[in-house]
Amino acid sequence: MHTPRVCKILKIESEAENIKTIYFKDRRISRRIVPGQFIMVWIPGVDEIPMGVSHIGLNSELAITVEAVGEATERLCSLKEGDVIGVRGPYGRGFSNPGLNNLVIGGGTGMAPLIPLIELCVREGVKVNVLLGGRSLNRTPFIEKLSSIFKSTPSSFRVTTEDGSYGYRGLVTDLLEEIVLKNNFERVYACGPELMLRKIYEYSIERKLPLEVSLERYIKCGVGVCGSCYIGPYRVCVEGPVFKINELEKIRDVFGEWTRDAAGRLISLK
Ligand SMILES: Cc1cc2nc3c(=O)[nH]c(=O)nc-3n(C[C@H](O)[C@H](O)[C@H](O)COP(=O)(O)OP(=O)(O)OC[C@H]3O[C@@H](n4cnc5c(N)ncnc54)[C@H](O)[C@@H]3O)c2cc1C
Ligand code: FES
Repeated sequence: MHTPRVCKILKIESEAENIKTIYFKDRRISRRIVPGQFIMVWIPGVDEIPMGVSHIGLNSELAITVEAVGEATERLCSLKEGDVIGVRGPYGRGFSNPGLNNLVIGGGTGMAPLIPLIELCVREGVKVNVLLGGRSLNRTPFIEKLSSIFKSTPSSFRVTTEDGSYGYRGLVTDLLEEIVLKNNFERVYACGPELMLRKIYEYSIERKLPLEVSLERYIKCGVGVCGSCYIGPYRVCVEGPVFKINELEKIRDVFGEWTRDAAGRLISLK
């Protein structure tokens, strides 16, 4: 059941500098996955790593969006159409169903698992405001994809870049107050760098926002057995990767403060 299934890469799109979206088909994952769950991707001869799913399409079509940050992700980004990868999953707990008015906040590649959620909101005709943050225009994925989704309602999608090369100059968190004061959000979803998520969490506590965030920890087995992905009392691969605000309160000493490497050593996030 947890053996990777080999599948062919159907299509590759470049999203931004060092960030690619890789399309493939897997019936088993596509039949069960909900936005926010993750899969394990095996790169032949290299490693197996966790990835969010950035596209849940028709006829079992799926995609992952990969940022090259090390050996496995660099190899994934160098693969070509027709090459093979192995996939297993879906694993973990995804985002809860959208409400009537939703806020989605993504930082860089962290927007990947939020794209299918945004598409679900659009399909269901519920309101969705999207904030996408990145370092600069050429390092921020999904600007084109989201602009095309929001063609008819441009006010619902805003981009921030740290260097001001696109959209608002600054951080996504700079725009939070403005957007929250204009809306009554039933759900707020976020994924991205953990320090950004911690800021959003602090703000959500203050404003009593119904926040859910997707967190990352070192994942080996993906199925709750090896213990490498613990954050406080939770295994990210089973109880996460999506956590609700009441659960974040229980891990406030570690969330945004500490993570662990492959050997289990504590690493400061600051
Ligand atoms: C639930 C989840 C979903 C993810 N979704 C995406 C995604 O959609 N797109 C994307 O680009 N990245 C995603 N990641 C991060 C991705 O798994 C790591 O960037 C990747 O494993 C790095 O491997 P590497 O060999 O290229 O780099 P390394 O040089 O091995 O590591 C670079 C960084 O990635 C972390 N990392 C390495 N291996 C793992 C692992 N097995 N589990 C968790 N972190 C690891 C390291 O701690 C280090 O901080 C996700 C991680 C998790 C936990
Ligand atoms: S990755 Fe093994 S318990 Fe979560």
